[in-house]
Amino acid sequence: MKNIVIFASGSGSNAENIADYFKDSKTVKITAVFTNNANAGVISKMEKFGIPCVVFTKEDFKSREYFTIKLYQYRPDLIVLAGFLWLIPNYLVNAYPNKIINIHPALLPKFGGKGMYGMHVHEAVKAANETETGITIHYVNTKFDDGKIIFQAKTILTEQDTPETIAQKIHELEMNNFPVEIEQILSKVN
Ligand code: GAR
Repeated sequence: MKNIVIFASGSGSNAENIADYFKDSKTVKITAVFTNNANAGVISKMEKFGIPCVVFTKEDFKSREYFTIKLYQYRPDLIVLAGFLWLIPNYLVNAYPNKIINIHPALLPKFGGKGMYGMHVHEAVKAANETETGITIHYVNTKFDDGKIIFQAKTILTEQDTPETIAQKIHELEMNNFPVEIEQILSKVN
């Protein structure tokens, strides 16, 4: 059995989709969702799957000893950031080399970096008159949206697209691709 721990800050539609994808798996288990937001939608979404949610503070996250022990209780083989908005501290990147991945709602290296999340990304894509956008799954390092790219999928944009329709196209790409890619990545993790 391989274990996934998901980190999420928001509504949790990706976490829910991943949980649904693996719910009957004999080889992959989501052992916990970690969130920095006690009001995050992801918390209620995990109830039906019986997946425990761990809420943590900035202080908890800064404390190497506390957080390492807390996380290790869930034995992650892979840590999946699904709409998680804090930078991952050095000690965690070092403790889980090539075992932390993130999904970003644009074609990195474009439209990444601090402040580039959710609708901000789609608004920037629209403002730049891009003819395509997409999703990027990448390994996590200590900078925002900067690690080695594992997978990208694209969608075409027209002049009629708005930030809202772009968000919808990205959502579909995320739903269709993220769990499958996680399964692929996990099959190579030792
Ligand atoms: C997703 O679109 C994800 O790609 C994005 O946040 C959204 C979370 O939605 N992540 C970033 O922007 C990271 N820079 P969700 O909570 O419904 O899964």
